[in-house]
Amino acid sequence: NTPLRLGIAGLGTVGTGVAKIVRQKAGLLAIRAGRPVEISAVSARSRDKDRGVSLADYAWEDDPVALARRDDVDVFVELMGGSDGPAKAATEAAIASGKDVVTANKAMLAHHGQALALAAEEAGRVIRFEAAVAGGIPVIKALTEGLAGNDITRVMGVMNGTCNYILTRMLSTGLPYQTVFEEADKLGYLEADPTLDVGGIDAGHKLSLLSAIAFGVQVDFDSVALEGIEKVTIEDIRHAADMGYRIKLLGVAQMTGRGLEQRMSPCLVPAQSPLGQLEGGTNMVVLEGDNVEQIVLRGPGAGMGPTASAVMGDVMDIARGFRIPTFGQPAAGLEKSTPASTATP
Ligand code: HSE
Repeated sequence: NTPLRLGIAGLGTVGTGVAKIVRQKAGLLAIRAGRPVEISAVSARSRDKDRGVSLADYAWEDDPVALARRDDVDVFVELMGGSDGPAKAATEAAIASGKDVVTANKAMLAHHGQALALAAEEAGRVIRFEAAVAGGIPVIKALTEGLAGNDITRVMGVMNGTCNYILTRMLSTGLPYQTVFEEADKLGYLEADPTLDVGGIDAGHKLSLLSAIAFGVQVDFDSVALEGIEKVTIEDIRHAADMGYRIKLLGVAQMTGRGLEQRMSPCLVPAQSPLGQLEGGTNMVVLEGDNVEQIVLRGPGAGMGPTASAVMGDVMDIARGFRIPTFGQPAAGLEKSTPASTATP
């Protein structure tokens, strides 16, 4: 059987995790996909760094765009990050050269997902991005496959593990926001630009992707009403706890009479509810549909194993020949969502 050949751009935590899975589970993946899954070439900032996985069998490219254009690459696996710049240029080059794309890049998709999906559709290629939302939780597959027989009525959840860690830790230690923020920084939990986490932007990116899929509209990050956790005080958290609530950075997307409402903000949730009991760096996504009522998915939202697991799920979809566009049919003209007011529901 013809192998599926991957070109991996970016060998940080996630890229290294993917390389390990492809190497360690080659036999299993070949059985499950009905064909071998191989890496033919890679690119990253540093060639010499010890990543604990051998790259000796793979061709090396310094330039991700050159990697994206290689004849021995069928699927371009974009794990560099960054909403613009090399990640976007290389993704566009991959599509233009007739490759499918798997990416974990929520920022790129939140800003350019519609254009990239349209370009892919016109080229007869697919872009898969399970790893961009809620790490190891297969929430995009749940929405597009398992819940395909539902009108989705609401999507909500905790989609940034770092914020959940900070809020949970403030409650358990009684320490103020700034101290716990610095602790999270030392532990390496924060994005290079911490505002992405604590400003709710990263979680907002993820919510905008889920909304587009769930409600069949264009990705519209600019319409997400955003509020981060920087202003949440230890007093807020204590008062909430005294009344039986927890404060969570909660994303909610739902259709209202005024259009799609997307909101990412600190919310009170009952302490005994699944969301209230979510601790540490974990994510939880709640999906509601007219037939299924409510599904709760909980799991690790970041890290090598979980994120690489989600990337591999997409790679395996492509290896098996599953080619339905994740965002519906962009060329058919998806509605742009109507920005809903920011009034509290
Ligand atoms: N900074 C993100 C988080 C990483 O804390 O959830 C995973 O997207």
